[in-house]
Amino acid sequence: MDGKRVDETKIRMAQMMTPNDANVLGKVFGGSILALIDLAASACSQRYAGRVCVTAAFERVDFLAPVEIGELVELDAFVSFVGRTSVEVTIDVHATHLPTDSRRHVNTARVTMVAVQDGRPVAVPRLICESREERLRFLAGRLRRELRSERTAQMAELLGRLEALGDSELESLLGMEGSLVDHID
Ligand SMILES: CC(C)(COP(=O)(O)OP(=O)(O)OC[C@H]1O[C@@H](n2cnc3c(N)ncnc32)[C@H](O)[C@@H]1OP(=O)(O)O)[C@@H](O)C(=O)NCCC(=O)NCCS
Repeated sequence: MDGKRVDETKIRMAQMMTPNDANVLGKVFGGSILALIDLAASACSQRYAGRVCVTAAFERVDFLAPVEIGELVELDAFVSFVGRTSVEVTIDVHATHLPTDSRRHVNTARVTMVAVQDGRPVAVPRLICESREERLRFLAGRLRRELRSERTAQMAELLGRLEALGDSELESLLGMEGSLVDHID
């Protein structure tokens, strides 16, 4: 299967935020931004893979600044890492206050999409990384994947230890200071 260059994977989406996107404080609801991120990841991955892709996982998303109703949200998406059937899409999100044209970065999200056929994962093209930055981003995606697996295994083990404790031990851990991980590890 032929490869695709990172440049060929780039897409841009933009949407103005309306009162339908408001939370109870009158700012943009985080879920509206997450839905746009998911759409951008979907469009970017499907064009890259030449297949239908489904959302497998969102990496943690930090909202760095609130977005106001009436602002233009722009999403710049590109493929940063690929496995055999999975495609990690990085999405940079900016908000612009249109009357003053002042634009700020509000978050960067990473979404893992999986190419599917008849509901089963299928292979995707290889990603051609040409610049140092593209190679670094690819390797960072690989690190994220490895660390995710380690963290999932560590969490399962620690949870198992917690569940094996008696009620009084759980009670005393509730008031404990310091690292819970160190305490039960
Ligand atoms: C995503 C899905 C197709 C994976 O199917 P699966 O049978 O678990 O597939 P596999 O275990 O063979 O994994 C396939 C790939 O997905 C990746 N993957 C699966 N679950 C993942 C997760 N939670 N996070 C990151 N990557 C994941 C695997 O690492 C693997 O990548 P690789 O081929 O590049 O090495 C399946 O779990 C699914 O259909 N989920 C629901 C998707 C959906 O409906 N999304 C919208 C939610 S409303």
